[in-house]
Amino acid sequence: MSEKQTVLVTGGAGMIGSRLIEILLPKYRVVSLDNYFIGKKENHVAGADYREGHTKDIETLCGDLDPAIIFHLGEYSRVEQSFKDVELVWQSNVEGTFRVLEFWHKRKCKIVYAGSSTKFADGGMGRDQSPYAWMKASNTELVRNYGNWFDLPYAITYFYNGYGPRELAEGPYASVIGRFKTQYWAGEPITVVAPGTQQRNFTHVDDLARGLLMVGEHGLGDEFGLGSHESHTMLEIAKMFTDNIVMLPERPGNRMESIVDTTRVEQEFGWTTEHTVKEYIESLKQQKK
Ligand SMILES: NC(=O)c1ccc[n+]([C@@H]2O[C@H](COP(=O)([O-])OP(=O)(O)OC[C@H]3O[C@@H](n4cnc5c(N)ncnc54)[C@H](O)[C@@H]3O)[C@@H](O)[C@H]2O)c1
Repeated sequence: MSEKQTVLVTGGAGMIGSRLIEILLPKYRVVSLDNYFIGKKENHVAGADYREGHTKDIETLCGDLDPAIIFHLGEYSRVEQSFKDVELVWQSNVEGTFRVLEFWHKRKCKIVYAGSSTKFADGGMGRDQSPYAWMKASNTELVRNYGNWFDLPYAITYFYNGYGPRELAEGPYASVIGRFKTQYWAGEPITVVAPGTQQRNFTHVDDLARGLLMVGEHGLGDEFGLGSHESHTMLEIAKMFTDNIVMLPERPGNRMESIVDTTRVEQEFGWTTEHTVKEYIESLKQQKK
């Protein structure tokens, strides 16, 4: 029997990375590199090899590996909080990512970069609206240029508002659906950041991970958008839980509009979403103690 190919997932203990590992494992040997800034050891999937550390130390921690694919998901990943964490964002998404790109360069394997759809928001102005958005957008250019300068295979995906099991539900870095779930289960009002008319295309983590695998195995180049075509305002999402809603003051970085383009994954791989956020919220409401 031939040996399984190795795949390296940075951020493998996070929401999307852990789901990706589950679907990679039957076919590949999977190694995760995560510094547990957001990721949790409870998210570990049996059968994967977990290495703890920052991406800036990837060569020391993963130097023994010669992966077929690197899925680079291990970056600072919060929009609004990135204003107060700018140094952390820089360390992860610039310094760490540079080391990941050099690791890729040396091994001449394929990289799949987890870009952010924030760069397309507000007619393309979204890329400058927060430290997070800017660094994610710049990295898509850096990955593309590395690919061209050094003739390396790459694919760049753009996720739209992931949600699903293992989303962070508590603390300052909780995701929006995670926070709403915690508030709803505790019988507290749901807090919505003003104006509440921000449109989002919430996309289930199963759909994102399935698309990532397709792109990892068969996609080459830029513009692999992965997002639901169904768009909801934040107030609509909150109302799917309850009418017990309290508005919070507006915050910087809170883009208004998000345009979804999934042309490449639909045409090349027949990818479509199989889940809706409404169904997910209904299932969370059923679970209320
Ligand atoms: N969830 C979304 O809606 C969304 C949208 C667009 C892009 N993305 C990108 O997809 C990727 C995965 O997103 P997610 O929702 O699973 O986020 P997440 O925060 O749950 O996962 C990111 C993981 O990377 C780890 N990490 C962060 N910095 C690291 C570093 N320097 N070294 C090693 N590990 C590090 C975190 O501990 C975490 O486990 C991120 O790069 C994120 O920016 C996510």
